[in-house]
Amino acid sequence: MDKEESKKKIALGSDHAGFEIKEQLAAYLKEKGYEVKDFGAYSADAIDYPEPAYSTAKSVSEHSTDEGILICGTGIGMSIVANKLPGIRAAVCNSVETAQISKRHNNANVLCLGSRIEHSDSFEKIVDEWLNAKFEEGRHERRVGKIHSLTGI
Ligand code: RB5
Repeated sequence: MDKEESKKKIALGSDHAGFEIKEQLAAYLKEKGYEVKDFGAYSADAIDYPEPAYSTAKSVSEHSTDEGILICGTGIGMSIVANKLPGIRAAVCNSVETAQISKRHNNANVLCLGSRIEHSDSFEKIVDEWLNAKFEEGRHERRVGKIHSLTGI
């Protein structure tokens, strides 16, 4: 049975470019009853995105948290790092539509957002819809399985 949505443990990470949005999302998620584990940045001072991306994705990879959200300037650097960890399927999304499909078809377990990229929906709405979307399984289960069996991670 699915973990009750409001009980999910969410790992959050950003660099300086995503710091403000991360803080905003952390408050929003806590307010909604999610448990949030914050992997930094802890201020708007410049830091290198691979570090928070690695620790955030590692916690999802090791199942210490259920899902992760990463924010940098574009979401791209974060996704490149996260996708190198075993079992991680990180997706850069800039709309409710891409976020929902990343879960329904790809079972994305890390959502990557770009603070400096134009989004067609609010960050909160994108996150909400992503967290609530369900993996459709069936043919997608086979395809997602191949991501890991072919790459070995
Ligand atoms: C930082 O300036 C920027 O490069 C970073 O936030 C991110 O966009 C990298 O992918």
